[in-house]
Amino acid sequence: MYDGLSAVYDYGQNGAELKNNIKEYWWKSMTQMNENVVGIDSAIFMHPTVWKASGHVDAFNDPLIDNKDSKKRYRADVLIEDYIEKLNDKIKKEVKKAAKRFGEQFDEQQFLETNQRVLGYKQKQKDIMAEFVTAMDAGDLERVRQLIIDLEIACPVSGSRNWTEVRQFNLMFDTKLGSVSEGANTIYLRPETAQGIFVNYLNVQKTGRMKLPFGIAQIGKAFRNEIVARQFIFRMREFEQMEMQYFVKPGEEMKYFEEWREKRLKWHHAMGINADKYRWHEHDKLAHYANAAYDIEFEFPFGFKELEGIHSRTDFDLSQHEKFSGKKIRFFDNESGESYVPYVVETSIGLDRTFLSVLSACYNEEKVGDETRVVLNIPAPLAPVKVAVLPLVKKDGLPELAREILNELKFDMNCQYEEKDSIGKRYRRQDAIGTPFCITVDNQTAEDRTVTLRHRDTMEQERVSMDKVAEIVKEKVDMKALLKKLI
Ligand code: GAP
Repeated sequence: MYDGLSAVYDYGQNGAELKNNIKEYWWKSMTQMNENVVGIDSAIFMHPTVWKASGHVDAFNDPLIDNKDSKKRYRADVLIEDYIEKLNDKIKKEVKKAAKRFGEQFDEQQFLETNQRVLGYKQKQKDIMAEFVTAMDAGDLERVRQLIIDLEIACPVSGSRNWTEVRQFNLMFDTKLGSVSEGANTIYLRPETAQGIFVNYLNVQKTGRMKLPFGIAQIGKAFRNEIVARQFIFRMREFEQMEMQYFVKPGEEMKYFEEWREKRLKWHHAMGINADKYRWHEHDKLAHYANAAYDIEFEFPFGFKELEGIHSRTDFDLSQHEKFSGKKIRFFDNESGESYVPYVVETSIGLDRTFLSVLSACYNEEKVGDETRVVLNIPAPLAPVKVAVLPLVKKDGLPELAREILNELKFDMNCQYEEKDSIGKRYRRQDAIGTPFCITVDNQTAEDRTVTLRHRDTMEQERVSMDKVAEIVKEKVDMKALLKKLI
């Protein structure tokens, strides 16, 4: 009604269900499937000193550059990353050409390792990244600009290379606590949920009598004043994060880092989305406090991009909070008699990005006879509506029988009852929102209490007893089906 704000989105009735189901999958995988991970819910507003301690006030910046002709603003690092990605496309083209030329004898691995043109592109990628990392480490923004000029990167809108200087912009939103007359205090909307976990470390450890290693998980809103808001819900100003900080004994962090990398990839793969859509990206430029960092990237419709970060953050955050609060944040190790600040392995994933990954990978258009059916092949436990109950006609007692089934199922899952339009049209509508099962009640049901169970993905229909159908569906749509794949 009011045009909306860019990079701020509302989710409708099906979106909200899908989002809640993804949250449930993540939350249970963390807190139920790991005996030593507990969940909290910390406030969005926090004491402003938290963000001084964490480094966000001084260093949570993006390097931005403007094109003078289009007046469009870009993240300098993204312009450079996109350039590097284009070199990947060139490599793919070389592979395709060679595969055509050599036919069955083509050995892709060997080609990638020996072809001079491919090796040249790969070297160029390395050189560009090295130059960018050196410039950013030195805080030399003029050198970053020079790199963009030297690579002849043009503005995608104006096509010109007429760039301003590169400037740093802080991404935190601020607001005022209390009325101005009482002496307003600037506070920030949290740009990550992680700091709420760090400041609650001692509360959780002491009240839960937790021993290292243990984890604290949290799902919640985060806010960033993203200057360059593009790609739908990929980069938002208000979004949700699902983060887990795993506190470990110093020196043991790499073991747990590897363990969590494996666990997190398994979590993604368990959804059944094509495994080729995920890849690891090792950070070239580590934050000064991190000693290892990997991203899980996903192939979104606009290319491979970060979906989740798994970072070994050392004792940086807890030590900073010790320093700024003047309070000790130590773990007393009964076994060794030592007391120390724990190290942290973090897993941090965007809920909205996960939503987009599921939506984009599960959206399919299929030819069925002369028609095209749009179907969302969402994993059944995540689907917004689990089952639609459909009386074939609105008479002969069929609606009553359908409601009998619905009244049993609705305690366990989200169901829909639909009696309008032809059965074919109703199936298509349910396919389009990803409903894994439709139960059709027809005249035979009145005679022998059997129904048609239709499967979304195969469109197969089977005749099952009305008294058994709930049990069959429940097993398939239960979150347990996904969680069991994690062990
Ligand atoms: N505590 C670490 C942290 O916040 P991050 O890489 O800045 O790390 C973690 O963010 C995840 O949050 C990202 O991998 C991404 O999925 C999600 N995310 C970050 N910024 C986002 C934005 N503007 N819109 C949507 N999701 C975002």
